[in-house]
Formats: sequence, C-alpha cells, structure tokens
Amino acid sequence: MNLIILGLPGAGKGTQAKKLSNKYSIPHISTGDIFRSAIKNETELGKKAKQIIDSGGLVPDEITNDIVKERIKLDDCNNGFILDGYPRTIYQAEALETMLEEMNKELDLALYINVSRDELIKRLTHRRTCSNCGAIYHLDYKPPKKEGICDKCGGKLIQRSDDKEKVVNERLKLNKENLMKLIEFYKKRSKLITVKSDAGINEVFDKINDIIKEHVK
Ligand code: AP5
Ligand code: MG
Repeated sequence: MNLIILGLPGAGKGTQAKKLSNKYSIPHISTGDIFRSAIKNETELGKKAKQIIDSGGLVPDEITNDIVKERIKLDDCNNGFILDGYPRTIYQAEALETMLEEMNKELDLALYINVSRDELIKRLTHRRTCSNCGAIYHLDYKPPKKEGICDKCGGKLIQRSDDKEKVVNERLKLNKENLMKLIEFYKKRSKLITVKSDAGINEVFDKINDIIKEHVK
C-alpha cells in the first residue's frame, strides 16, 4: 500500500502514520522527522534546514525531492510506504508522480486529515515529542505516564522549536495555500479521500482503517 497523508500542521499526520506503519508493517516516512534528525546530528542538510524550519518556511523542493527519491528506493518500501508531510507543493507532487512511474509503483490513496483551525492550535501548542525516539504526546489528549518522560524509551519530552505560537501561525498560513492546491491535484486523479479528525486518536484511526479496507485492493 502506497499512501500519502495530507493535512495542516497538527492534524495528526505523524500520529496516524505511526499507527498505520505498525499495523501494516510498512515504513513511515516523514520529511519533517528526516530534517529534525539532520538538525540534531548537525549534518550539512541539518545546517541548511534549521533556519527554514524554525521560521516556519519550506525546505527547497529540489532538496526534499532528492531525499524522498532515495528513501522510497530502499528495499523496506517494496511492500509500500506511508508518506507524511510530503508532497507539500505541486512541484513535489509532480516529482513524486514521476518517481513512482519510474519505479512502476502506483499511489493508492492521498488521505487528507481535516481538522478545524482552533483544534490545530490546541494540538500544536500542547504537543510534546520524545527527543530520543520521536514518539508524539499531547499534554491533555495523550499525556505520558510520567511527566516529561517518554513511555516507550524513557527519553526526555520536548516542545518542538516550531511549535511556538508565532511560528505556528506562519506554518498554518503557508501550508494552507499549498494544501488547497494539493487537494485539487489528487482530486483530479481520483486519489483523494478526506477524513474528519475532530474525534480522538483511536476513533480517527478506525475511520482511516475503514477507508483503507474500502479503497485499497
Ligand atoms: P512536519 O514535521 O511535517 O510538520 P507539520 O506538517 O507542520 O506537521 P506536524 O508534525 O506539526 O503535525 P502532524 O500532522 O504530524 O500532527 P501530530 O501527529 O504530531 O514538518 C516540519 C517542517 O519541516 C515544515 O514546517 C517544513 O519547514 C519542513 N518540511 C517537512 N516536510 C517538508 C516538505 N515536504 N517540503 C518542504 N519542507 C518540509 O499531532 C499533533 C498533536 O495532536 C500531538 O500532540 C498529538 O498527540 C495530537 N493529536 C493527534 N491526533 C489527535 C486526535 N485525533 N485527537 C486529539 N489529539 C490528537
Ligand atoms: Mg508530524
């Protein structure tokens, strides 16, 4: 199953992609996670990406496309993949289409997680992320068992540098413009399915699984 998860910042792309990855045993590929890991490891990519991410901008398409192209070529993607946060521009969507054609692969679904703006802000400002394994928590909706500590690996929970209010507003504005174009792009190709995510994490996961059963052969 080759799946794209679309949605504004805080929609729950990472949360649902991790659960789907466990259930279907296919990799979860998050361009945001790839950039954050590069920043943490102070690589050349990390140095380029840090300022852009901290100000709520987008990493240039060419860099992002190359990363995804190399990643989906790996053997662990033979049975499928879940792309989270990519594509984010029409240029990236077109590049992905070409990559998949070249690999004789087909996209099954572009799943759009639709959440109201007020809810997105609540989700982003109270999110906490494990600095070690990347697990995602929320202070109210999904609190860790022990404050500030990851349930899974014992790592320290942190607030992402781009989850500060000013950067959140910038991210929402920029991503909204691009998202509307992507929705049209995948609608035209009859790949778009929308899931309302005003419900809890597990209820949304159930809805997504019903969609997959119905639409992915
Ligand atoms: P990225 O890391 O992809 O960030 P994003 O798109 O802004 O999305 P988020 O990770 O903030 O939100 P999410 O939808 O994953 O929500 P989550 O599951 O965490 O990208 C970061 C940056 O990298 C970009 O701004 C850009 O600079 C760069 N970048 C990345 N990809 C790029 C690309 N392709 N091109 C160019 N640049 C790129 O959930 C949020 C919170 O809500 C959590 O606390 C969670 O516990 C909670 N939650 C989730 N679902 C529910 C629910 N149903 N009910 C209640 N709470 C919920
Ligand atoms: Mg995410």
